[in-house]
Amino acid sequence: MAEPILLRNVGVPDSHTIEVYMQRGGYQALPKALKEYEPAALVDLVKRSGLRGRGGAGFPAGVKWSFLPKGVYPRYLVCNADEGEPGTFKDRVLIEHDPHGLIEGIIISCYACEVNTAFIYIRGEYEFGARRLEQAVQEAYAHGFLGKNILGSGFNLDLIVHRGAGAYICGEETGLLTSLEGDRGHPKLKPPFPASEGLYRKPTVINNVETLFNVPFIVERGAEWYTSMGTEKSPGLKLFCISGHVNKPGVYELPLATPLRTLIYDYAGGPLEGKPIKAIIPGGSSTPMITPENLDVPLDYESLAAIGTMLGSGAVIVIGEGTCIVRTVERLAEFYRHESCGKCIPCREGTDWLYKILHRIEHGAGREEDLPLLLDICSNIGGKSFCPLGDAALGPVRSSIAHFRDEYLQHIRDKRCPYQD
Ligand SMILES: Cc1cc2nc3c(=O)[nH]c(=O)nc-3n(C[C@H](O)[C@H](O)[C@H](O)COP(=O)(O)O)c2cc1C
Repeated sequence: MAEPILLRNVGVPDSHTIEVYMQRGGYQALPKALKEYEPAALVDLVKRSGLRGRGGAGFPAGVKWSFLPKGVYPRYLVCNADEGEPGTFKDRVLIEHDPHGLIEGIIISCYACEVNTAFIYIRGEYEFGARRLEQAVQEAYAHGFLGKNILGSGFNLDLIVHRGAGAYICGEETGLLTSLEGDRGHPKLKPPFPASEGLYRKPTVINNVETLFNVPFIVERGAEWYTSMGTEKSPGLKLFCISGHVNKPGVYELPLATPLRTLIYDYAGGPLEGKPIKAIIPGGSSTPMITPENLDVPLDYESLAAIGTMLGSGAVIVIGEGTCIVRTVERLAEFYRHESCGKCIPCREGTDWLYKILHRIEHGAGREEDLPLLLDICSNIGGKSFCPLGDAALGPVRSSIAHFRDEYLQHIRDKRCPYQD
C-alpha cells in the first residue's frame, strides 16, 4: 500500500492528542456529515460502501443500522473494543494511536443512527488504551465534538468509556450488553437482536472498533472510493494483524482480497528463520487452520469461506515447521475451556473434554479411539451451544485433525510428543 489510510496516524508523535489529529485533517468528516447529510442518507452511504463488520462475522454495517425500528427512542450505540480473540490486536493499535479517529467514527455513526448516548466497551487488559480513550473523550467534549448541540447542529451525544474485566464472552454482543448493564456477562438468546432490543431493552447498534473507524473515511471520500478496493462482496480496506513464526509480526493495512502470500512474504517479512510454513490460522484462533497449499488464497470473506475457513477478525497466525500441532491445539482448547462462561452444557462440558483428551494425546496417554471421540464431541458442541463460543472452540480441533491426522497418530502410537526431547 502506497499511502496508509486507516493507519495514517500510527507512528506520528502525539497522534493520540486532538491537536495532532486535527493538524492531520481529523474532525473534518464530522462537520461534513452533519451539514451535508440527513441521518437516513448517511445510513444509505454506509450501505452503498458495502462496509462489512470487522469484528468477525462480516455483517454489512449499513444494513445492520437500517434494522433499527423507526421512531423508538432512546437508542444506543456500543463500540465493541473487547478484542478477545487470540491473535487479534488490530483494534488496540487504533485505540492507542488514533483514539480520535475512533471517536469521530462513533460520533458520525451515532448521528446516522439517531443515538444520543454511546459506549465504548473496552477489555480490562487494555489499561493504556482505556486511559488514552478517556483522555481523548475529554478533549472531544472540550472542543464541542461531544456533548450538547455538536458544532451548532442541534445533535447531542454523550460518550462513555466502560472497562470490562477481561472475559472472551464479553466480546460476544449479547454477553457484552449484559456485562454493560452490570450483570455477569452471559450471552442471551437471539432473537430479539440488539438492533430491536439491546441495551436496557432499547434498540442498540453494536459495531467493532475497526468498523466504526472506517466511517469518517467513507464520508470524506465517498462510497465509490470504498468499493473501488477489494471485491464486489468484500469491498474496502482491512487491517490484518499477523503473528507467529514470521519476521515482522504486526498490523498491516491492505485492500481486501490481497493474497495471503503477499501479506506473509511482502509485508511480514516471510517465515521466521526461513523455515517452511506448516499451517496458517487465517482469521483468529477460532477459524479453521489451512496449509501452505492455500497460500495464494485472496484474503476476503468469500474466498476463505470457499476453502472451508473464515476471514474472522483478520488475525493471521503463521505456524512454522518444527511446531507441534497437537500442542498448539491443546493450548487453544485450554483457552476455550477457560473462557466458556458455563451457561450451557455442550460448551461447558464439551470444551473441558476437548482439552482433557488433547492433553492426554500430547502427553503420551492418547488412544486410537481418541480421534473419533474428539470429532464426536465436536459434533455435540457444534450448533448446539447457546452462543457461538462453543462453535469457536471447534475450528482448531476439526481442521487440525483433517490436515494433521498422521501427527496425532504418531503421538498415540509412540506414546510421546515427537517434538519434545
Ligand atoms: C465468543 C465471541 C467473542 C467475540 N469477541 C468479539 C470482540 O472481541 N470484538 C468484536 O468486535 N466482536 C466480537 N465478537 C463478535 C460480536 O458478537 C459482534 O458480531 C460484533 O461486535 C459486531 O460488530 P461488527 O458488525 O462491526 O463486526 C465476538 C463473538 C463471539 C461469538
